[in-house]
Amino acid sequence: MNYQELQNVWAKKYETVPSQLEKLKHIRSVATAFNTNIDAILKIKGSTLKKLIVENSIPIDELQNISMSGFSKPTDVIIGIVKCFCRGIAEEWVTDDIDVYNWMDANLGYDHLQMGGQAGIIANALALLGVKKVVAHTNSHPKLQAQQFLDLENLFGLNDAGNLEKAINITRETDIPLIHWIIEFDKGDSFEIDGKIFSCPKSNRFIATYDPLNMKLVMNKGFIDYLNTHKVNYLLLSGFHPLLKSNGGVNLVKDAVPVLQRWKKHNPNLIIHLEIASTQDIAVRKAIVKYIVPLADSVGLNERETIDLLRILDQQSLADRIEQNTCSPLLFEALLFLKKKLKMKRIQLHMFGLYMTLQDPNFVHSAEQNLKGMMTAAVVSSSKAYNGELARYDDVVKTLGMSVSVQSLNELNNLSQILHNPELNSTGICKVGDFILSVVPTILVDKPKTLVGMGDTISSVSLLAGC
Ligand code: GLC
Repeated sequence: MNYQELQNVWAKKYETVPSQLEKLKHIRSVATAFNTNIDAILKIKGSTLKKLIVENSIPIDELQNISMSGFSKPTDVIIGIVKCFCRGIAEEWVTDDIDVYNWMDANLGYDHLQMGGQAGIIANALALLGVKKVVAHTNSHPKLQAQQFLDLENLFGLNDAGNLEKAINITRETDIPLIHWIIEFDKGDSFEIDGKIFSCPKSNRFIATYDPLNMKLVMNKGFIDYLNTHKVNYLLLSGFHPLLKSNGGVNLVKDAVPVLQRWKKHNPNLIIHLEIASTQDIAVRKAIVKYIVPLADSVGLNERETIDLLRILDQQSLADRIEQNTCSPLLFEALLFLKKKLKMKRIQLHMFGLYMTLQDPNFVHSAEQNLKGMMTAAVVSSSKAYNGELARYDDVVKTLGMSVSVQSLNELNNLSQILHNPELNSTGICKVGDFILSVVPTILVDKPKTLVGMGDTISSVSLLAGC
């Protein structure tokens, strides 16, 4: 089949999306935990980046082959941006050094504030999509945080008294706002220093996080009690990634285990989805894999997070190969390795242009349903990229009817070839050993207005709309 024919096949399949969106409205309740914060969004241009480099006298050799993945001083923010800009990658660096925050506040500024953190972003998205009751964990809920929640009757947080209240109305007076810098850049942008050109191969973002509460995995008691005593259908879990070993992070991961076990004991049918997120601290990353992954029914991750996991599981060569050539056949190899090694019931990888899920045949949602869930996620997340935000219900279907991209079809085709399964190009489903693979080519937005929170939206909508 040629591209046009395949685009038609997938357009037909994508026709299911409106009815999957309807199904979301029948889901009774969802909780999202742990990390909710405020994102300060800044779109940076190559020319501004150059200015910062020059003004702060950063030597050019510090800007080449950057291996750093954390801050040792405030101006390392610039190094982090350059690293992600030049490679077109997404990274998040965290720090407990308030000087970094102050430096950004004084030197970077921002364009606007919006909801941040996996728990916050997913809560807004799922409530907008009509899940009957969404309860978001917030370890800090001052007015500025409350204002980032959508004004929806089905979207709750826990107030000072430990009771459910509409999230936008809560003000926990003494809490401090937790602001993360999200520095986004555009594909094709470039700057020149000393005759060397730095150019950006792919639109992406660098996140610089100073967040004393999320870095300590502070849990809200009201929320813990709520899940000890109420049954929700799904728990969308994240927030371990800002922890640092130097900050007691490994023990904080371990301490979360009995909390999760108690929730699961009270509610054995609870489906827990863990979003891996960009975890730079290797000891913490290992602890997440050791202690939290076994409690999750489903795990979501992107290309970079896949590489990160391979690196702590002695798969350096595969990680290096993916680093050099981030393509679907190699990422599939990684996914299969992770599924076998970590034994979760379902694992979903979202790469640029393609989402793939490997699941056990008896997972609560069939692979056919999962495929529909992923197509729904592709529409919702590309609509977010296209529109810049999901604030009204109409926003979620802005890209419905757009064709899946040729680049996505190429990735799918490469995958079908290594699996010796040409039908995969048009079915999106096949058996792989004891597992079932479902894969969808996605809709790509040419000039995304925003990218932050895409992964969170993709993972949560894929799972829930696959019901
Ligand atoms: C991380 C960041 C947060 C951002 C989120 C987006 O959790 O800390 O600021 O909103 O990723 O996925």
